[in-house]
Amino acid sequence: MEKPKFKTVQEVVAAGEGLPERYLHAPTGDGEVQPLNAAVPEMDIPAIDLNLLLSSSEDGREELRKLHSALSTWGVVQVMNHGITKAFLDKIYKLTKEFFALPTEEKQKCAREIDSIQGYGNDMILWDDQVLDWIDRLYITTYPEDQRQLNFWPEVPLGFRETLHEYTMKQRIVIEQFFKAMARSLELEENSFLDMYGESATLDTRFNMYPPCPSPDKVIGVKPHADGSAITLLLPDKDVGGLQFQKDGKWYKAPIVPDTILINVGDQMEIMSNGIYKSPVHRVVTNREKERISVATFCIPGADKEIQPVNELVSEARPRLYKTVKKYVELYFKYYQQGRRPIEAAL
Ligand code: SIN
Ligand code: FE2
Repeated sequence: MEKPKFKTVQEVVAAGEGLPERYLHAPTGDGEVQPLNAAVPEMDIPAIDLNLLLSSSEDGREELRKLHSALSTWGVVQVMNHGITKAFLDKIYKLTKEFFALPTEEKQKCAREIDSIQGYGNDMILWDDQVLDWIDRLYITTYPEDQRQLNFWPEVPLGFRETLHEYTMKQRIVIEQFFKAMARSLELEENSFLDMYGESATLDTRFNMYPPCPSPDKVIGVKPHADGSAITLLLPDKDVGGLQFQKDGKWYKAPIVPDTILINVGDQMEIMSNGIYKSPVHRVVTNREKERISVATFCIPGADKEIQPVNELVSEARPRLYKTVKKYVELYFKYYQQGRRPIEAAL
């Protein structure tokens, strides 16, 4: 296996050799550049009670309306009452911190191959003059179980593997409930999206580490992008902000609400909902003093699945916006690499 030759961001910081140019964003065009770390307003997305979403009471219907309103504007919600305990979420945060605090040699045991996404490493290089993101990652396919490659699952810190397995199973329940709620919020039969998403859907969990950065005005944690998943479940850092969403061309910071799971629409859900639910563009800015961690799980329809707008959401008043796609994630990377909006692959 060929290991990456480049340094991870943590190694760049530890080497103390200053900021490599590969991380610096050049000023754009007219010279008037907004620093990447400029202050932005907070977005007002609701905290949605998942338990209430499942109920057929009037309160439950009100919660579905809130979900509809948030997903058709921001494309993202904070989910509370999701059934995963605070103690368990704390364990995930703790293990994530402990993994990235390990010596390089230990983390390298899970190193990704040079041209493959799964495993431990830094930003993947997809084109020649790519400005790199200030982020190290551990990327693991957790579901279906027979697709697991255990060589990428850390043996230390102790309990990491078991906890990740348990987290995967807990997330599967939340995901199923959330898909049903999204369908009901659009007055569809509750399995409308789940049937297309499929039994064979893949879950990929990405553990993210953003070390403190000496130039947050010129370096970015994650470049602006929309997710290629159907939906993404995110545990953002509990103390350090940095995640921002774009709406009508402006950036807004995501609120930090302890013990909630942030769920955002991905491109494949935008396609299935015929554009009613939005796959939001988002980015992560860096912080000069503090490191930041987050844990994202991408819910990706099976490779055999045809993803297309649900029939009931296509009408004369609302014509079909997207064509049928298969293996969207492959198209996603092809378009992303060419500097195009991936969802254009479905137009
Ligand atoms: C991402 O969207 O790629 C990362 C989100 C985060 O770290 O909060
Ligand atoms: Fe993302």
